[in-house]
Amino acid sequence: MILVTGGAGYIGSHTCVELLNSGYDIVVVDDFSNSKPAVIDMIKQLSGKGFRFYEADICDKSKIEQIFCENDISHVIHFAGYKAVGESVSEPLKYYMNNVFGAVNLLEVMGRYNCKRLVFSSSATVYGVPEKVPVTEDMPLFAINPYGRTKLIIEKICGDLYNSDNEWEITLLRYFNPVGAHESGKLKEDPNGIPNNLMPIILQAATGKIPYLNIYGNDYDTPDGTCVRDYIHVVDLAKGHISALNNMKKGVAVYNLGTGRGYSVLEMVETFKRVTGVDVPYRFAERRSGDAAQCWSDPTKAERELMWRAELGIDRMCRDAFRGRS
Ligand code: UFG
Repeated sequence: MILVTGGAGYIGSHTCVELLNSGYDIVVVDDFSNSKPAVIDMIKQLSGKGFRFYEADICDKSKIEQIFCENDISHVIHFAGYKAVGESVSEPLKYYMNNVFGAVNLLEVMGRYNCKRLVFSSSATVYGVPEKVPVTEDMPLFAINPYGRTKLIIEKICGDLYNSDNEWEITLLRYFNPVGAHESGKLKEDPNGIPNNLMPIILQAATGKIPYLNIYGNDYDTPDGTCVRDYIHVVDLAKGHISALNNMKKGVAVYNLGTGRGYSVLEMVETFKRVTGVDVPYRFAERRSGDAAQCWSDPTKAERELMWRAELGIDRMCRDAFRGRS
């Protein structure tokens, strides 16, 4: 049985569907702080399978204990966490509490129930502003905001935990930029409140919810002056978790999950317009602080050791994101 924390969230929900489709039994916990209860029913509908769900905060130790007590959990995939960079700057303690304390709480209960296999949602944010691209897993780690620091701290905690007890099998997955949605259009990125990431904002501009997209900076040292990122289809990313589960071993293993290709903000906008036939009004704005000019992955370690490779290109990412629009 796999415990999925944050299973109603964007990446979590897509991963639940892939887990169920691959024949895994799952149990899901989420507090709906950045997701909606309807997602749980949608996962069941799309997979045609049932599972137990707990509405709980990862920081609530007695509730987490109850979940371990009532289910025979062999592995945990830990998605639950806050992810808005700007909010982490204005409310750092909220991030340290939920992300760091939540992870410590979970790990502590896992250890007590002798469940020592963890797949953790880390992020390319742990590379800070990378000194070179493509980014390999052995490059220096560096946090440039509290959100990034929570990911980095949790990675370090996992290392310390393994050093204290060599029974642990931990896989840290560093995601690049997840976009797209389930091909049914029924699961998608659906954050509560105002979105921060590029694709949800492109969707808002395309559907008239906002007048235009602000493109942050057009004077970077990149081919068209806008920032370059490694966008990865969320279903490819979800499948990376299945590969990680199938290849767990003692120790702490770290993998980039990306496509290994970078696209600029303008390329994303132009691709979106081409595949959907819908205009995306935009204007150029000031650079956003903390943005790296270029960040894309070297995914060859995951290809080699997890036998995983991203398969869906940016046309599919844009088309599926548009189909999932609300
Ligand atoms: N961008 C715009 N306008 C917007 C929003 C974004 O031009 O309204 C640009 C950004 O400047 C950046 C690109 O679109 O160049 C992607 O921005 P996102 O905010 O979507 O993603 P980031 O690369 O900044 O950050 C993402 C995740 C973080 C994660 C990081 C890892 O949001 O959680 O990747 O590199 F930590």
